[in-house]
Amino acid sequence: MAEKILVIGACGQVGTELVENLQKVHGGANVVASDIRKSDNPLFDNGPFEILDVLDNKQIATVFATHKPTIVYHLAAMLSATAEANPKLGWQLNMDGTFSIFDACIEYDVKRIFWPSSIAVFGPTTPAIMTPQSTILEPNTIYGITKLAGERYCEYYHARYGLDVRSIRYPGLIGWKSLPGGGTTDYAVDIFHKALHQGKYECYLNNETTLPMMHMEDAVRATLEITDAPTTQIKIRSSYNIAGVSFNPDQLTAEIQKHIPDFSITYAPDHRQKIADSWPQSINDSVANQQWGWNAKYNLEKLVVNMLDNLKLTLAVEK
Ligand code: SER
Repeated sequence: MAEKILVIGACGQVGTELVENLQKVHGGANVVASDIRKSDNPLFDNGPFEILDVLDNKQIATVFATHKPTIVYHLAAMLSATAEANPKLGWQLNMDGTFSIFDACIEYDVKRIFWPSSIAVFGPTTPAIMTPQSTILEPNTIYGITKLAGERYCEYYHARYGLDVRSIRYPGLIGWKSLPGGGTTDYAVDIFHKALHQGKYECYLNNETTLPMMHMEDAVRATLEITDAPTTQIKIRSSYNIAGVSFNPDQLTAEIQKHIPDFSITYAPDHRQKIADSWPQSINDSVANQQWGWNAKYNLEKLVVNMLDNLKLTLAVEK
Protein backbone atom coordinates (compact mmCIF):
# COMPACT_ATOMS: atom_id res chain seq x y z
CA MET A 1 0.00 0.00 0.00
CA ALA A 2 1.25 3.46 -0.86
CA GLU A 3 2.26 5.59 2.09
CA LYS A 4 0.36 8.74 2.87
CA ILE A 5 2.70 11.30 4.38
CA LEU A 6 1.77 14.29 6.51
CA VAL A 7 4.38 16.98 7.09
CA ILE A 8 3.48 19.40 9.89
CA GLY A 9 5.41 22.66 9.82
CA ALA A 10 6.02 22.09 6.11
CA CYS A 11 6.89 25.70 5.24
CA GLY A 12 9.80 25.91 7.68
CA GLN A 13 13.50 25.49 7.00
CA VAL A 14 13.48 21.68 7.23
CA GLY A 15 9.89 21.15 6.09
CA THR A 16 10.36 22.84 2.73
CA GLU A 17 13.26 20.62 1.75
CA LEU A 18 11.73 17.50 3.24
CA VAL A 19 8.50 17.98 1.27
CA GLU A 20 10.47 18.39 -1.94
CA ASN A 21 12.28 15.10 -1.30
CA LEU A 22 9.16 13.23 -0.20
CA GLN A 23 7.26 14.37 -3.28
CA LYS A 24 9.98 12.83 -5.45
CA VAL A 25 9.77 9.51 -3.62
CA HIS A 26 6.02 9.20 -2.99
CA GLY A 27 4.49 11.52 -5.61
CA GLY A 28 2.99 14.95 -4.87
CA ALA A 29 -0.51 13.60 -4.23
CA ASN A 30 0.71 11.39 -1.37
CA VAL A 31 2.52 14.14 0.54
CA VAL A 32 0.21 16.38 2.52
CA ALA A 33 1.98 19.58 3.51
CA SER A 34 0.58 21.58 6.41
CA ASP A 35 1.51 24.72 8.27
CA ILE A 36 -0.03 27.58 10.14
CA ARG A 37 0.06 29.53 6.86
CA LYS A 38 0.89 28.67 3.29
CA SER A 39 4.10 29.97 1.80
CA ASP A 40 4.11 31.06 -1.85
CA ASN A 41 6.73 28.43 -2.74
CA PRO A 42 5.32 26.68 -5.88
CA LEU A 43 6.47 23.39 -4.36
CA PHE A 44 3.31 23.39 -2.28
CA ASP A 45 1.14 23.40 -5.41
CA ASN A 46 2.37 19.89 -6.28
CA GLY A 47 0.20 18.25 -3.64
CA PRO A 48 -2.42 18.84 -0.98
CA PHE A 49 -1.85 21.66 1.50
CA GLU A 50 -3.70 22.10 4.78
CA ILE A 51 -3.68 25.03 7.15
CA LEU A 52 -2.85 23.45 10.49
CA ASP A 53 -2.24 25.11 13.83
CA VAL A 54 -0.92 22.41 16.17
CA LEU A 55 -2.59 24.19 19.07
CA ASP A 56 -6.00 23.66 17.46
CA ASN A 57 -7.20 20.14 18.23
CA LYS A 58 -10.20 20.41 15.93
CA GLN A 59 -7.99 21.24 12.97
CA ILE A 60 -5.69 18.35 13.87
CA ALA A 61 -8.62 15.91 13.98
CA THR A 62 -9.92 17.14 10.62
CA VAL A 63 -6.55 16.84 8.89
CA PHE A 64 -5.90 13.34 10.29
CA ALA A 65 -9.43 12.14 9.51
CA THR A 66 -9.34 13.55 5.99
CA HIS A 67 -5.94 12.28 4.92
CA LYS A 68 -5.39 9.24 7.15
CA PRO A 69 -1.60 9.58 7.11
CA THR A 70 0.57 6.50 7.55
CA ILE A 71 3.74 8.49 8.28
CA VAL A 72 3.90 11.86 10.03
CA TYR A 73 6.78 14.33 10.26
CA HIS A 74 6.00 16.75 13.07
CA LEU A 75 8.32 19.71 12.55
CA ALA A 76 6.29 22.62 13.91
CA ALA A 77 8.26 24.26 16.70
CA MET A 78 9.60 27.56 17.95
CA LEU A 79 13.41 27.78 17.73
CA SER A 80 15.80 28.86 20.45
CA ALA A 81 16.06 32.63 20.08
CA THR A 82 12.34 33.18 19.43
CA ALA A 83 11.33 30.93 22.32
CA GLU A 84 13.67 32.81 24.64
CA ALA A 85 11.75 36.00 23.80
CA ASN A 86 8.44 34.32 24.70
CA PRO A 87 9.09 31.30 26.96
CA LYS A 88 5.43 30.52 27.73
CA LEU A 89 4.44 30.47 24.08
CA GLY A 90 7.60 28.47 23.29
CA TRP A 91 6.59 25.85 25.84
CA GLN A 92 2.98 25.82 24.64
CA LEU A 93 3.79 25.42 20.96
CA ASN A 94 6.61 22.92 21.41
CA MET A 95 4.98 20.80 24.12
CA ASP A 96 1.18 21.06 23.77
CA GLY A 97 1.56 20.83 20.00
CA THR A 98 3.58 17.64 20.36
CA PHE A 99 1.16 16.10 22.90
CA SER A 100 -1.77 16.65 20.53
CA ILE A 101 0.02 15.34 17.46
CA PHE A 102 1.23 12.20 19.27
CA ASP A 103 -2.29 11.52 20.54
CA ALA A 104 -3.69 11.98 17.04
CA CYS A 105 -1.07 9.53 15.74
CA ILE A 106 -2.31 6.93 18.18
CA GLU A 107 -5.98 7.64 17.57
CA TYR A 108 -5.62 7.50 13.79
CA ASP A 109 -3.26 4.52 13.81
CA VAL A 110 -0.27 6.26 12.23
CA LYS A 111 2.46 3.74 11.43
CA ARG A 112 5.48 5.93 12.14
CA ILE A 113 6.23 9.44 13.30
CA PHE A 114 9.38 11.54 13.09
CA TRP A 115 9.94 14.28 15.69
CA PRO A 116 13.09 16.39 15.70
CA SER A 117 15.13 17.10 18.78
CA SER A 118 18.16 19.37 18.86
CA ILE A 119 21.65 19.92 20.22
CA ALA A 120 19.80 22.37 22.48
CA VAL A 121 19.01 19.46 24.84
CA PHE A 122 22.62 19.81 26.00
CA GLY A 123 23.60 22.51 28.45
CA PRO A 124 26.60 24.11 30.12
CA THR A 125 27.30 21.01 32.25
CA THR A 126 27.40 18.67 29.23
CA PRO A 127 30.87 17.64 27.99
CA ALA A 128 31.28 20.10 25.09
CA ILE A 129 33.65 18.20 22.85
CA MET A 130 32.47 15.07 21.06
CA THR A 131 29.38 15.04 23.26
CA PRO A 132 28.34 11.41 23.75
CA GLN A 133 24.90 9.96 23.05
CA SER A 134 24.11 9.47 26.73
CA THR A 135 25.34 12.31 28.88
CA ILE A 136 24.34 15.11 31.23
CA LEU A 137 21.22 16.87 29.94
CA GLU A 138 20.70 20.13 31.82
CA PRO A 139 19.62 22.65 29.15
CA ASN A 140 19.12 26.24 30.30
CA THR A 141 17.09 27.58 27.38
CA ILE A 142 13.35 27.12 27.15
CA TYR A 143 13.80 25.64 23.68
CA GLY A 144 16.27 23.08 25.05
CA ILE A 145 13.95 22.29 27.94
CA THR A 146 11.06 21.60 25.56
CA LYS A 147 13.27 19.42 23.39
CA LEU A 148 14.48 17.42 26.38
CA ALA A 149 10.94 16.97 27.69
CA GLY A 150 9.90 16.00 24.15
CA GLU A 151 12.61 13.34 24.00
CA ARG A 152 11.44 11.82 27.26
CA TYR A 153 7.88 11.98 25.95
CA CYS A 154 8.88 10.13 22.77
CA GLU A 155 10.46 7.34 24.76
CA TYR A 156 7.47 7.17 27.10
CA TYR A 157 4.92 7.02 24.27
CA HIS A 158 6.89 4.30 22.58
CA ALA A 159 7.14 2.21 25.74
CA ARG A 160 3.60 2.82 26.91
CA TYR A 161 1.55 2.98 23.71
CA GLY A 162 3.87 1.40 21.15
CA LEU A 163 4.08 4.64 19.13
CA ASP A 164 6.82 4.09 16.55
CA VAL A 165 8.48 7.45 17.03
CA ARG A 166 11.95 8.22 15.70
CA SER A 167 14.06 11.24 16.45
CA ILE A 168 17.41 12.89 15.86
CA ARG A 169 19.11 15.83 17.55
CA TYR A 170 19.60 18.30 14.71
CA PRO A 171 22.68 20.48 14.84
CA GLY A 172 22.50 23.97 13.23
CA LEU A 173 21.17 23.41 9.72
CA ILE A 174 22.59 25.13 6.64
CA GLY A 175 20.80 25.09 3.31
CA TRP A 176 20.32 27.40 0.34
CA LYS A 177 16.71 26.53 -0.53
CA SER A 178 15.06 27.86 2.60
CA LEU A 179 15.76 30.31 5.38
CA PRO A 180 15.83 29.49 9.07
CA GLY A 181 13.77 31.54 11.51
CA GLY A 182 14.56 32.41 15.08
CA GLY A 183 17.46 30.07 15.76
CA THR A 184 20.86 30.71 17.32
CA THR A 185 22.73 28.92 14.56
CA ASP A 186 21.06 30.99 11.79
CA TYR A 187 24.17 33.14 11.29
CA ALA A 188 25.73 30.27 9.37
CA VAL A 189 23.04 30.62 6.69
CA ASP A 190 22.73 34.39 6.74
CA ILE A 191 26.48 34.85 6.27
CA PHE A 192 26.33 33.32 2.77
CA HIS A 193 23.53 35.64 1.65
CA LYS A 194 25.38 38.69 3.01
CA ALA A 195 28.69 37.56 1.54
CA LEU A 196 27.14 37.42 -1.94
CA HIS A 197 24.93 40.52 -1.65
CA GLN A 198 27.06 42.90 0.39
CA GLY A 199 30.52 41.40 0.72
CA LYS A 200 30.42 41.83 4.48
CA TYR A 201 28.64 40.42 7.50
CA GLU A 202 28.11 41.46 11.11
CA CYS A 203 27.97 38.34 13.24
CA TYR A 204 25.91 38.16 16.43
CA LEU A 205 28.16 35.44 17.87
CA ASN A 206 31.83 35.94 18.69
CA ASN A 207 34.55 34.65 16.40
CA GLU A 208 35.41 31.66 18.58
CA THR A 209 31.93 30.19 18.97
CA THR A 210 32.30 26.66 17.70
CA LEU A 211 28.98 24.90 17.13
CA PRO A 212 27.87 21.62 15.56
CA MET A 213 26.36 22.30 12.12
CA MET A 214 25.12 20.26 9.18
CA HIS A 215 24.32 20.77 5.52
CA MET A 216 20.58 20.53 4.90
CA GLU A 217 21.04 17.74 2.37
CA ASP A 218 22.65 15.61 5.10
CA ALA A 219 19.91 16.58 7.56
CA VAL A 220 17.10 15.65 5.20
CA ARG A 221 18.83 12.37 4.36
CA ALA A 222 19.23 11.60 8.09
CA THR A 223 15.53 12.35 8.59
CA LEU A 224 14.47 10.04 5.78
CA GLU A 225 16.97 7.32 6.71
CA ILE A 226 15.91 7.10 10.35
CA THR A 227 12.22 7.18 9.44
CA ASP A 228 12.64 4.44 6.83
CA ALA A 229 14.99 2.25 8.91
CA PRO A 230 13.71 -1.18 10.01
CA THR A 231 12.17 -0.98 13.47
CA THR A 232 14.73 -3.41 14.87
CA GLN A 233 17.55 -0.94 14.16
CA ILE A 234 15.98 1.88 16.16
CA LYS A 235 16.99 1.03 19.69
CA ILE A 236 16.94 4.57 21.07
CA ARG A 237 13.47 6.03 21.34
CA SER A 238 14.41 9.35 22.85
CA SER A 239 16.67 10.87 20.19
CA TYR A 240 19.93 10.13 18.38
CA ASN A 241 23.02 12.33 18.23
CA ILE A 242 23.98 13.07 14.64
CA ALA A 243 27.07 15.03 13.65
CA GLY A 244 27.89 16.98 10.53
CA VAL A 245 30.65 19.55 10.71
CA SER A 246 31.84 21.82 13.54
CA PHE A 247 33.29 25.28 12.98
CA ASN A 248 33.36 28.80 14.40
CA PRO A 249 32.58 32.04 12.52
CA ASP A 250 36.31 32.71 11.92
CA GLN A 251 36.78 29.34 10.26
CA LEU A 252 33.64 29.76 8.17
CA THR A 253 34.79 33.23 7.10
CA ALA A 254 38.22 31.92 6.05
CA GLU A 255 36.56 29.23 3.94
CA ILE A 256 34.22 31.78 2.29
CA GLN A 257 37.19 34.08 1.62
CA LYS A 258 38.78 31.34 -0.49
CA HIS A 259 35.97 32.09 -2.98
CA ILE A 260 35.19 35.73 -2.17
CA PRO A 261 38.58 37.19 -1.10
CA ASP A 262 37.14 40.63 -0.24
CA PHE A 263 34.51 39.25 2.11
CA SER A 264 34.86 40.72 5.60
CA ILE A 265 33.26 40.00 8.95
CA THR A 266 32.75 42.06 12.10
CA TYR A 267 31.52 40.83 15.46
CA ALA A 268 28.76 42.23 17.65
CA PRO A 269 27.67 39.44 19.98
CA ASP A 270 24.09 39.80 21.30
CA HIS A 271 21.78 37.77 23.56
CA ARG A 272 22.23 34.72 21.35
CA GLN A 273 25.86 34.39 22.47
CA LYS A 274 24.71 33.06 25.82
CA ILE A 275 22.55 30.43 24.17
CA ALA A 276 25.39 29.35 21.88
CA ASP A 277 27.81 29.20 24.80
CA SER A 278 25.57 26.67 26.54
CA TRP A 279 25.71 24.25 23.59
CA PRO A 280 28.41 21.70 22.68
CA GLN A 281 31.11 22.27 20.09
CA SER A 282 31.07 18.84 18.51
CA ILE A 283 28.95 15.71 18.64
CA ASN A 284 29.77 12.02 18.84
CA ASP A 285 27.29 10.20 16.60
CA SER A 286 28.80 6.72 16.73
CA VAL A 287 25.60 5.16 18.10
CA ALA A 288 23.53 6.42 15.13
CA ASN A 289 26.30 5.20 12.87
CA GLN A 290 26.31 1.71 14.38
CA GLN A 291 22.56 1.27 14.70
CA TRP A 292 21.15 2.69 11.47
CA GLY A 293 24.23 3.47 9.44
CA TRP A 294 24.31 7.26 9.75
CA ASN A 295 27.19 9.12 8.05
CA ALA A 296 27.37 12.79 7.06
CA LYS A 297 28.72 13.63 3.61
CA TYR A 298 29.48 17.34 3.84
CA ASN A 299 32.66 18.77 5.35
CA LEU A 300 33.20 22.53 5.66
CA GLU A 301 34.89 22.89 2.29
CA LYS A 302 32.15 21.07 0.42
CA LEU A 303 29.43 22.87 2.35
CA VAL A 304 30.79 26.32 1.46
CA VAL A 305 31.21 25.49 -2.24
CA ASN A 306 27.69 24.06 -2.38
CA MET A 307 26.11 27.07 -0.63
CA LEU A 308 27.91 29.67 -2.74
CA ASP A 309 27.35 27.88 -6.06
CA ASN A 310 23.65 27.40 -5.47
CA LEU A 311 22.99 30.84 -4.03
CA LYS A 312 24.82 32.43 -6.97
CA LEU A 313 22.53 30.54 -9.36
CA THR A 314 19.49 31.70 -7.40
CA LEU A 315 20.74 35.28 -7.55
CA ALA A 316 21.29 35.02 -11.31
CA VAL A 317 17.69 33.82 -11.75
CA GLU A 318 16.35 36.64 -9.56
CA LYS A 319 18.18 39.33 -11.59
N1 SER B 1 19.22 25.53 15.04
C1 SER B 1 18.48 25.53 16.28
C2 SER B 1 18.51 26.86 16.92
O1 SER B 1 19.48 27.57 16.73
C3 SER B 1 19.03 24.50 17.20
O2 SER B 1 18.28 23.35 17.12
O3 SER B 1 17.63 27.19 17.64
